[in-house]
Amino acid sequence: MHTLSLQDGTPFPAFGLGTWLSKPEQVYRAVREALALGYRHVDAAWIYFNEEEVGRGIREAIAAGDVQREDLWVTTKLWNDMHAPGDVQEGLETSLRQLGLDYVDLYLMHWPVAQPKGVARPSSGADLLAPEACPIEATWEAMTKLPATGKTRQVGVSNFSASKVDAVANAVGVTPAVNQVELHPYNAQPGLLAAMKERGVVLTAYSPLGSSGRPDTMRRDDEVRLLDDSTVADIAGAHGSTPAQVLIAWALARGTAVIPKSTNPERIAQNLAATKLELTAEQVAALDALDRAERYVTGEFWCIEGSPHTVESLWA
Ligand code: A2P
Repeated sequence: MHTLSLQDGTPFPAFGLGTWLSKPEQVYRAVREALALGYRHVDAAWIYFNEEEVGRGIREAIAAGDVQREDLWVTTKLWNDMHAPGDVQEGLETSLRQLGLDYVDLYLMHWPVAQPKGVARPSSGADLLAPEACPIEATWEAMTKLPATGKTRQVGVSNFSASKVDAVANAVGVTPAVNQVELHPYNAQPGLLAAMKERGVVLTAYSPLGSSGRPDTMRRDDEVRLLDDSTVADIAGAHGSTPAQVLIAWALARGTAVIPKSTNPERIAQNLAATKLELTAEQVAALDALDRAERYVTGEFWCIEGSPHTVESLWA
């Protein structure tokens, strides 16, 4: 199994199970199945509204002896409405309670976006706080206190640009261990990858298969499906593998962690098997060349009328 090393030397399993958009009634089985097969990393978040079922899958896998807690990596994330420094620990404790775990391995600030407490999803500009009102630096400082509580081993960020990573690291003097962002051949972010490598921040690739299952409201009409790409298909053909497996192998070849989501037993197994697939340097280069800086998760939902954010400022 591929293992990356975090800046303090902690081993970080590079391949994991994503749970965004996994239906609560399906995700328990998916987690249970994945851990029985050999997955050692599960990625969760408060806003996925399925932490209880994810946690049940984890706890039952441990009880069944499929995995020991210390051999398993669990990540979850602070939601936008818990960014006030005084609320950050409560955010983690709520997730732990829902997961039914004593600690997680990694706690991430889900977005560089703050909302008033109690607002899960903004429906107007008033549901988003100006960055000055609740700065990411202050939230990050509160997060850096969490490892000392024993409730998370590591802290990091998600959806952060290199300049935002620098802003929080310089303000607080602690660099995030991980930055979880959208990465796949259509949104390869080579500049961010290089910048994070330089700073010792590991990137985790979300939506590595192009997030084909996300809601229609998050889709453009002219969207190109990454899983249908002909270059990806040709490389898959050369290995007798599937397009999804090629995308997972590419993510691992670049030194990122990768968390494909599936609740389907066959695809859960297929995705794990991709960790054994080795692409040639030419194949990696051909996939790199597909980059068109195209996000499937654009962040436009934080940029509604009256919001202090724009798509430009969000990713700047
Ligand atoms: P399902 O859960 O039914 O398997 P991403 O990780 O980029 O967000 O992609 C997740 C989407 O891709 C889900 O809709 C998931 O559906 C689907 N998916 C997961 N694994 C595979 C695979 N091996 N082949 C095709 N589609 C997959």
